[in-house]
Amino acid sequence: MTYEEFYGSSYEIMKEVEGKLLELVTHYSATAKEKEGVKPVVYCCSRIKEPDSMLRKLEKHGLEPSGKAALSELYDAVGVRVVCAFADDVYRLVKWLKTQPLLQIMEEKDYYAYPKANGYRSYHILVQLAEGKNRGFRAEIQIRTIAIDFWATLEHQIKYKKNVPHEGLIRSELKRCADEIASLDLSMQTIRDILQDAE
Ligand code: GTP
Ligand code: MG
Repeated sequence: MTYEEFYGSSYEIMKEVEGKLLELVTHYSATAKEKEGVKPVVYCCSRIKEPDSMLRKLEKHGLEPSGKAALSELYDAVGVRVVCAFADDVYRLVKWLKTQPLLQIMEEKDYYAYPKANGYRSYHILVQLAEGKNRGFRAEIQIRTIAIDFWATLEHQIKYKKNVPHEGLIRSELKRCADEIASLDLSMQTIRDILQDAE
């Protein structure tokens, strides 16, 4: 099934919403004060959820298998991921996003303060556009450090494997890596803070 078939006329609007959010982050990235030459946003990417993947998610949640339900019941049909260098940059961006008139924050999930059992850490904001002709359209913004993003990309692959050899061991190793990354992010932040205060 194509995107147009599944999302219907909303597909064009979803692409606009995606563009608006990317624009917002690009604006932040370009104007946020660069400290010590390290950009707060390393990179940003976005996607519109593939129809097949969305259908699986709707089914999992016991929702009607339609583009309409995807847009009215869920938030991540349009998703933007922002990858930051340092842990503090994540929170600084979240704080800034909360001040933006374009966005109405519907829900926040702070997986930094409350990591998932597998070690996943990220900050998710579920939003609705609050102004313009696409008002009311929803999206999910994920903000995380580059080190965690590296981990999440590998961890995500488990979901697509039918047989994971030594699964228990792999999962516990990934959990160990996630915890080490969290500790590393903290050390990097501390070193950065010290360097910033130095002459
Ligand atoms: P879905 O996981 O999308 O069904 O939504 P949810 O309602 O459970 O929300 P959650 O915040 O847990 O997940 C939203 C998105 O965050 C996912 O689609 C993934 O992109 C990402 N994510 C959440 N948990 C994990 C995780 O344990 N590992 C990885 N790699 N990504 C995750
Ligand atoms: Mg989930």
